[in-house]
Amino acid sequence: MAAMNRAWIMKTRPEGEPTVDNFELVESPLPEPKHGEILIRSLYQSIDPYMRLRMRLGRSHTPPLNIGDVVVGEVVGRVEESKSPLLSAGDVVAATIGWQEYGVVAAQSARKIDPTMGPISTGLGVLGLPGLTAYFGLLDICDPKADDTLVVSAASGAVGAVVGQIGKINGCRVIGIAGSDEKCSYVVDELGFDAAINYKTQDGSAELRRLCPDGIDVYFDNVGGPVTDAVFENLAFGARIAVCGQVAHYSAVAPPQGPRNLGVLLTTQSRIEGFIVRQFEHRYEIARRKLAKWIDEGRLQYKEDIIDGFENVPSAFIGLLQ
Ligand SMILES: NC(=O)c1ccc[n+]([C@@H]2O[C@H](COP(=O)([O-])OP(=O)(O)OC[C@H]3O[C@@H](n4cnc5c(N)ncnc54)[C@H](OP(=O)(O)O)[C@@H]3O)[C@@H](O)[C@H]2O)c1
Repeated sequence: MAAMNRAWIMKTRPEGEPTVDNFELVESPLPEPKHGEILIRSLYQSIDPYMRLRMRLGRSHTPPLNIGDVVVGEVVGRVEESKSPLLSAGDVVAATIGWQEYGVVAAQSARKIDPTMGPISTGLGVLGLPGLTAYFGLLDICDPKADDTLVVSAASGAVGAVVGQIGKINGCRVIGIAGSDEKCSYVVDELGFDAAINYKTQDGSAELRRLCPDGIDVYFDNVGGPVTDAVFENLAFGARIAVCGQVAHYSAVAPPQGPRNLGVLLTTQSRIEGFIVRQFEHRYEIARRKLAKWIDEGRLQYKEDIIDGFENVPSAFIGLLQ
């Protein structure tokens, strides 16, 4: 065990896109667990778009970070010391300790990882919150049916890649939208999507019209912005839309402007619903087992993007948002 802890704090609040100067690496003595708590050493640090939301002031479902706070986030780590009968030193857990190498949490707030379900890093990915978000967002919010045309944005990402594959498992025709030809090839050739659109080089609305002549039945929205406007122009009658994320707006300095085409929801009698994965917390374990089974059966593929070195956390986060 190291003698000192290292943590990334939010030094200044980002204005627009974050830069490495918004963060500072600070050292402090190792925290001591009290009765009922555990000391965790981080092995994998999750990097997620929602962290940018927590850096913003304003109304949200969780309070914003203050200047000097350790940046929020979940890790997969090893229990170094336990003062609880629930967990023992050596156990591998997922827990929310933020961007730091060591952290103390109440033992009941940590989730013991079952290494027989997959590599422990998947506890932050396909078997963690991104996989669960895809599962509940698609199956509970969108109610997909066989032969539905499903469109998913940020299609090659942690959530989008799982959404598209669950769509295929449920018999949907799946179109992904992503930001490079390489990502588009990945979702079609490796994940089995039916088609993909590169929104940076192609006319999204025209391509969707061509690929979905009968309209889009289900839209899983991870991004908002012009990508979502293009989808709205092509909705089918009775479409279902899950608003999972709006990453195109997380660094916006002013409220987003754009085509106000919500009228299409009226004419197509469509339904749009936002959700936060935690609303399904009571069913996490059922979903996790289902995802693990699909992986086992070779029906669900995943790819992890792992960057080595705790000092690289802010640059990895900035890269994710770009
Ligand atoms: N509701 C919930 O409970 C919940 C839980 C987890 C995650 N989420 C949300 O789900 C979404 C996906 O999360 P993730 O972890 O899977 O992230 P991710 O897709 O792995 O990464 C974000 C991706 O968004 C795309 N992107 C960034 N800026 C964009 C823009 N301006 N327009 C279009 N696309 C843009 C980029 O891909 P390209 O190169 O393809 O552009 C980037 O790789 C996020 O919005 C996140 O906040 C919601």
